[in-house]
Amino acid sequence: MGKDVIIACDFDSAEKTFAFLDKFTGVKPFVKIGMELYYAEGPSIVREIKARGHKIFLDLKLHDIPNTVKKAMAVLSRLDVDMCNLHAAGTNRMMEAALEGLTRPDGTRPMLIAVTQLTSTDQESMEKDLLIKEPIADVVMHYAKGAKNAGLDGVVCSPLEAEKVHATCGKEFCTVTPGVRFADGDIGDQKRVMTPAQAKEIGSDYIVVGRPITAAADPVAAYERCVKEFIG
Ligand code: C5P
Repeated sequence: MGKDVIIACDFDSAEKTFAFLDKFTGVKPFVKIGMELYYAEGPSIVREIKARGHKIFLDLKLHDIPNTVKKAMAVLSRLDVDMCNLHAAGTNRMMEAALEGLTRPDGTRPMLIAVTQLTSTDQESMEKDLLIKEPIADVVMHYAKGAKNAGLDGVVCSPLEAEKVHATCGKEFCTVTPGVRFADGDIGDQKRVMTPAQAKEIGSDYIVVGRPITAAADPVAAYERCVKEFIG
């Protein structure tokens, strides 16, 4: 498992995405394609970015009955992405079914990681809306353990949770952490943030960085700064 910086390509069209990626001439960053871009452009955007030589994290957060998720994962495997994800709240059986579906003809498969509780969910909304009364930190760790037991490769979590996830599920269980900001940058709508250097310190395996790179005056320099701080 390699440490890496993943750029969140939160654009609403292929045109904007390629205008952004064209700035990277020497390197091919690992990119995240989320719902906005995928629903705007469909699977062709995945194939095109892959053909340009980028690794891809397809962030579609599947959550449905096990059989449906298994079949959807089989289709995503054919797209040849490097990492994809689902909601741990779909149950451990759903996560196992997802893995059953996630196979390539050569026996390899994309990494599969779970979303525990979204960072937009707080204790109050979890209790009121979802009727889950346990402390949110315990819920996140419980979901992470469920994901590990189901055979998944890791979880998406806040950088503040990464250390505890590793302590609970082992060092090999990978943590993918958004909410990354430069020490001298805007935090925007993210509430709990860490710098790339701090994320390295606490043992994040992959950081997902969007606006600090995509909205920078010089995105390539911002990406290189992230890599330097996070990987060294
Ligand atoms: O622009 P920014 O760096 O905040 O982008 C972070 C990316 O990570 C976005 O694509 C966002 O949807 C995603 N994300 C997040 N927090 C989570 C899960 C995903 O910010 N808990």
